[in-house]
Amino acid sequence: MNKNNIILIGFMGVGKGTIARALFKSSGRFSIDTDDLIESITKKKIKTIFKDEGEPYFRELEKQCALWLEKSITNTVISTGGGFYRQENIKNIGKVVYLKSSFEGILKRINDAPNAKQKLDKRPLLKNLDEAKKLYETRIKEYEKISDVIVNVEARDMEDILKELISKC
Ligand code: S3P
Repeated sequence: MNKNNIILIGFMGVGKGTIARALFKSSGRFSIDTDDLIESITKKKIKTIFKDEGEPYFRELEKQCALWLEKSITNTVISTGGGFYRQENIKNIGKVVYLKSSFEGILKRINDAPNAKQKLDKRPLLKNLDEAKKLYETRIKEYEKISDVIVNVEARDMEDILKELISKC
């Protein structure tokens, strides 16, 4: 069954949420975010879940979220947390689009944002930049492997990104 879903994957801070919201406006699909769903169901911030319950518990919530998305969601752009791509059923949810950028490009995007401190602060895995860079190096190969479509988003206009993304999906 073609569910007409688009799943945006990629490293923290690459712009998955921003692009999903822009696609909501231009693609006729609704838009949701896996971290927002988890925060809503737990009534806790991701940062607090990591601190109080630990990362494995957060990954378990992501798994439940993935199962629910597969069963229940159609015609939607789904932005995901940077580690969501590991869900075994991700390909059953929809077309997987990897938003690609260099690590430096991602840091620039975060640091240029008016709420840069907040963006860094809410992401526990970005606390230590050396560790984050290592995680990035490991992840980029896996993102490429799992994705159906790759869109380079570094230093590009939103209009350009959306045009390429929609034409490839
Ligand atoms: C994570 C990315 C975060 C969030 C959590 C873990 C990761 O989402 O899900 O902090 O493992 O890369 P963003 O990619 O939206 O920052």
